[in-house]
Amino acid sequence: MEFKMIGPEHCDQVLEHLRRSFFADEPLNKAAGLCQNGVNCSALEIHCAEAIQDRMSVMAVDAKDEGSCKIAGVVLNGILKPDDTARALEKLEETKDIHFRVIFEMLHKHNIEHNLFEHFDVKSIFDVRILSVDSCYRGQGIANELVKRSVEVARKNGFRLMKADATGIFSQKIFRSHGFKVFSELPYCKYTDENGKMILPVEAPHIKLQQIYKTVCGDELDDKAKPH
Ligand code: ACO
Repeated sequence: MEFKMIGPEHCDQVLEHLRRSFFADEPLNKAAGLCQNGVNCSALEIHCAEAIQDRMSVMAVDAKDEGSCKIAGVVLNGILKPDDTARALEKLEETKDIHFRVIFEMLHKHNIEHNLFEHFDVKSIFDVRILSVDSCYRGQGIANELVKRSVEVARKNGFRLMKADATGIFSQKIFRSHGFKVFSELPYCKYTDENGKMILPVEAPHIKLQQIYKTVCGDELDDKAKPH
């Protein structure tokens, strides 16, 4: 397996991989019924393409699969600034895709309520947005390696703080094994409508969203206060 940085020229290939993997398989996408395996989802594709533009993302390419250069997995990392999430929440109003809106409304609201920028007093965060491995390649340590390389990219680029919204127990375990800690969490059964019905009926074994973080180039970072 070869691990390479993703450039804007790889965008189509990466989206093709995500349509077969992340779009239908990620726990929240599945719960919302966001899209069928292999099918386009324009709102999520725009979100992914934006992260690729930041040139911090990494892919695993099957070197055996010569010629076709098959993508086995990707981690899409973006640069997050203090007002980005509030702006993204506002922009959701224009989004026609109701399923996308439901997922990102929950994520954005949770992130705004549990604000890493204020807590750590940083001006930008290395945001691990999408972690995806093709089902044919799972269980071989590819996601682990992608997260490890993301930490190296964050460190090389001078970031003090990394974050991710880990939506399932496997991604939570992977991030934990790379030193990420829980900043805040939201049990899916507590995210309900006015009738007490779960808005995102996420399937077991996934039970909660965890906003997780890792301090990078900075033992100097104020990490004394307890996570929320
Ligand atoms: N069942 C049991 N354990 C699992 C599973 C599973 N389905 N998947 C991963 N693990 C465990 C492994 O046992 C391993 O533990 P170890 O380090 O103690 O041996 C660890 O998690 C890492 O496993 P990897 O082989 O590196 O993970 P893999 O390459 O299979 O990818 C991933 C895991 C990314 C979660 C993959 O299943 C996937 O693409 N799922 C759909 C998309 C998704 O849910 N992405 C994460 C959302 S959160 C976010 O994107 C920020």
